[in-house]
Amino acid sequence: MIASPISAHSEFDRELTETRARSAGMRVASFIVAGQRFWLKQVEHHESWRKRHTKGDSHQAFGREQDALRKMAVLGVPVPEIVAHGPDWIVLTDCGPTLEDMIRNEDYDHAEGLPAFEAAGQALAALHSAGLTHGRGKMKDFCWDGTQIRFIDLETDPAPFCPGTTGRDELVNFVYHCHFVAFQTGRDLSAELRAFVRAYGQGGHAEVFSAARAWARRRWWLGWLMAPVGWLTPDRRSPDFKAASPTLVWLAYYLNA
Ligand SMILES: Nc1ncnc2c1ncn2[C@@H]1O[C@H](COP(=O)(O)OP(=O)(O)O)[C@@H](O)[C@H]1O
Ligand SMILES: [Mg+2]
Repeated sequence: MIASPISAHSEFDRELTETRARSAGMRVASFIVAGQRFWLKQVEHHESWRKRHTKGDSHQAFGREQDALRKMAVLGVPVPEIVAHGPDWIVLTDCGPTLEDMIRNEDYDHAEGLPAFEAAGQALAALHSAGLTHGRGKMKDFCWDGTQIRFIDLETDPAPFCPGTTGRDELVNFVYHCHFVAFQTGRDLSAELRAFVRAYGQGGHAEVFSAARAWARRRWWLGWLMAPVGWLTPDRRSPDFKAASPTLVWLAYYLNA
């Protein structure tokens, strides 16, 4: 909450009203009050029938996300604070750029990124040790403010942690998404990925590693199938196909605590 006098509260209300007016129909918009950034997040409007069908009821999803944020905060999980809310919007405190935002920044500096990836690995291990999951665990779900990692975008109902299924899937998602962004941006993210996985491994989740290794080895055929598609498409195109084989190889052979 804004820890300042009444004037800051009225400025907050004014900025919020203006931001809501200029961002009608938008999913997120940020605004600044007294040098502090806030994020307005609104109910998602799905344009196509297909999206409405696959993503489900937006109001229910929005309610689930708020419940998850409050539940996580009570359990001591680092998430943004909800500082204001209405029937179809919430305002969150700023947690800094996501790991993906950092990588996509033209001025990205490996020396700045490595501590963020290491902290993200520790944060995911701590979340899993508490018996919880994020529900997805991609690079864009971790925010870094320079000192702390916080989890955002808790839209899918987070399932309890289980090393062989939900824990494994979050590690696989992270490794895949890292390769995906690396191919899309043309950046070498191997040091960042190693920093993340090493830090995660120090959290003592050897079972997640062995489950992810076994999962990848069972899919060796998928690697063979996807590799030619990746080779045949131009640089930075089809990053999903390009990322599949190296992700499987990485998980099968380089996943060591
Ligand atoms: N609390 C926050 N702190 C920092 N950035 C945020 C925050 N909330 C949202 N963002 C930014 O807005 C983007 C979209 O928010 P997100 O919660 O992921 O929405 P969506 O459900 O549409 O994916 C994020 O990728 C991030 O860049
Ligand atoms: Mg998101």
